[in-house]
Amino acid sequence: MGSAALTESEWIWKDGEVIPWHDAQVHLMSLAVQFGSSIFEGIRAYDTPKGPAVFRLKEHIRRLYDSCAIYRMDVGHEPSTVEQACLEIIRRNGLHDCYLRPMVLRGYGAAGLNPEGSPIETYIPAWPWGTYLGEGALEAGVDVCVSSWLRAHPDTFPVRAKAAGHYVSAQLMKMEALVNGYAEAIALGPGGLVSEGSGQNVFLVRDGRIVTPLLDGTSLRGITRDAILHIAAELGYEVREELVARESLYTADEIFFTGTASEVTPVRSVDRISVGQGKAGPVTMAVQKRFMEVVRGGADDVYGDWLTYVE
Ligand SMILES: Cc1ncc(COP(=O)(O)O)c(C=O)c1O
Repeated sequence: MGSAALTESEWIWKDGEVIPWHDAQVHLMSLAVQFGSSIFEGIRAYDTPKGPAVFRLKEHIRRLYDSCAIYRMDVGHEPSTVEQACLEIIRRNGLHDCYLRPMVLRGYGAAGLNPEGSPIETYIPAWPWGTYLGEGALEAGVDVCVSSWLRAHPDTFPVRAKAAGHYVSAQLMKMEALVNGYAEAIALGPGGLVSEGSGQNVFLVRDGRIVTPLLDGTSLRGITRDAILHIAAELGYEVREELVARESLYTADEIFFTGTASEVTPVRSVDRISVGQGKAGPVTMAVQKRFMEVVRGGADDVYGDWLTYVE
């Protein structure tokens, strides 16, 4: 996978300060390390004719605070401070196209599961990150499988929160897919219906109609997913959120993933069954093209509040 390795940048924002990349250390006994007590976001900034701009910054920071609320964590900063910090860390690192990973974590202090005594710390690293699902994935599409791992039942992990601990399950899905020669996995929910990818939402197209699984408490409320619901409607497609049976994956004309890292990635096969013609389909490419126009500042007349310009 082309983009598996991390590209370091120079500076990381930490609770109001900007510190060198390698000074952003947490102790082994931090609750974040011991128990996965870390809330995070994944945000992209894109270069535009007016310089770098962050895509849907407010929505991402709102989700960060929602995740923290669910896990009873007080960030200790105003959301506007964290938004400004995201812009600052892009500027300080001189980045253009980049990925930001705000993290609010429980640090060192508590010994057991009761987090009292562990401080809550906020970090914002940013670095250049290319196509998540590998070089050429956005054009050619990817081969995926249905994971043997199910998403958790809604009453187990509150998956609307983006918490690091939830992602040990996502790693099982991803590793299993890669070991078996696929680029990614689609997971079913505990009820056997389609939920989402290990780190992306999924859309299906049949007879020109676009469908994505309902938010049933087994998948993340993706911000790209929401953007695509708007963009697809703008382009004149009928688009619905509904229950999706596994077998719909084998009869769809087109399938695509959406996510901050994955952007809009066509899926060309599922479990070695070709999706449509086994290549990126016309609806997927129309949606992807419009999405890329939007994030690159070419549609501010329609989606004016989706980009926050760094300067
Ligand atoms: C499990 C999961 N689903 C979906 C998504 C896509 O969400 P978004 O479009 O907000 O990045 C992500 C990525 O953040 C994710 O981790």
